[in-house]
Amino acid sequence: MNSLFFFCQHNALSTKLRILILSLSEAISTEMRQEVENEVIAFYDQIANAYDGNMTQEGSNEQIRKEVAKRFTALVPKGTVLDFGGGTGLDLPWLTEAGFSVCFCEPSSGMREQAKKMAQGLSSQTVLFWEDQKVNFETWSKRKPVEGGVEGILANFAVLNCIQELDLVMENLALILKPGGHLVALVLDDRKKRASFSYLLRLMKSKLGRTTLQTRARHQEHQHTAYVHSLKEIKRHSVPFFYLKSREFLGGYGFSLLHLVRR
Ligand SMILES: C[S@@+](CC[C@H](N)C(=O)[O-])C[C@H]1O[C@@H](n2cnc3c(N)ncnc32)[C@H](O)[C@@H]1O
Repeated sequence: MNSLFFFCQHNALSTKLRILILSLSEAISTEMRQEVENEVIAFYDQIANAYDGNMTQEGSNEQIRKEVAKRFTALVPKGTVLDFGGGTGLDLPWLTEAGFSVCFCEPSSGMREQAKKMAQGLSSQTVLFWEDQKVNFETWSKRKPVEGGVEGILANFAVLNCIQELDLVMENLALILKPGGHLVALVLDDRKKRASFSYLLRLMKSKLGRTTLQTRARHQEHQHTAYVHSLKEIKRHSVPFFYLKSREFLGGYGFSLLHLVRR
């Protein structure tokens, strides 16, 4: 009887302990995620005024943006689309010209303000700027930011590389993309860097630790961690929600264009 009592008590205690450990580890991972997000947002707030000049300085960026625009408009029918991590709005001119209504999601208020200025100069006024909690994709499961969903999502120029938890972002993007809708994402592709020794060391570290390969994005004295998701990680984290239709290496540029379709 005594031992049964002890067993029940012990079991109840270990269940409580397990719950405590689980909620502690959840709280720690939320805290860490918040720190990463804060670093990224602070980085883009600081460089917002210089972003467009920096982008156009590198001639290949213009070319890549044109390529992405061509692919996106060929894939996505007319309708409402989400410009996820839209930055200073450099994609707004071609998106609105193509006839899309655009939901604009950008967590850095510095970048968002630039985008609003950009939108004022456009002939078509079909851009809806998301504010406050709506710009945090982690809140979308509680409250959907757009009724009925969108036909397409654009995540141009390494937006997904700012986010460590690819599984979480895929799940939340899937929440607002209509079935059969298209996700077009330009992501960092490291295959050209594989020749350097320091790169190989980092790659080895990430493989051994089973973590996503990290690099630093820099502008003058500002920097943030960027996550170079491997094809294996992309497939693993997207497969519950998306078909990966293609991954196209934009040779020479250091980017790949992903095309995924919502299941
Ligand atoms: C390199 S910029 C690209 C901006 C724009 N898409 C372009 O093509 O110029 C990356 C953008 O991703 C945004 N970003 C970072 N973390 C994000 C998140 N959790 N959700 C949405 N956007 C995010 C940044 O604030 C930044 O504006």
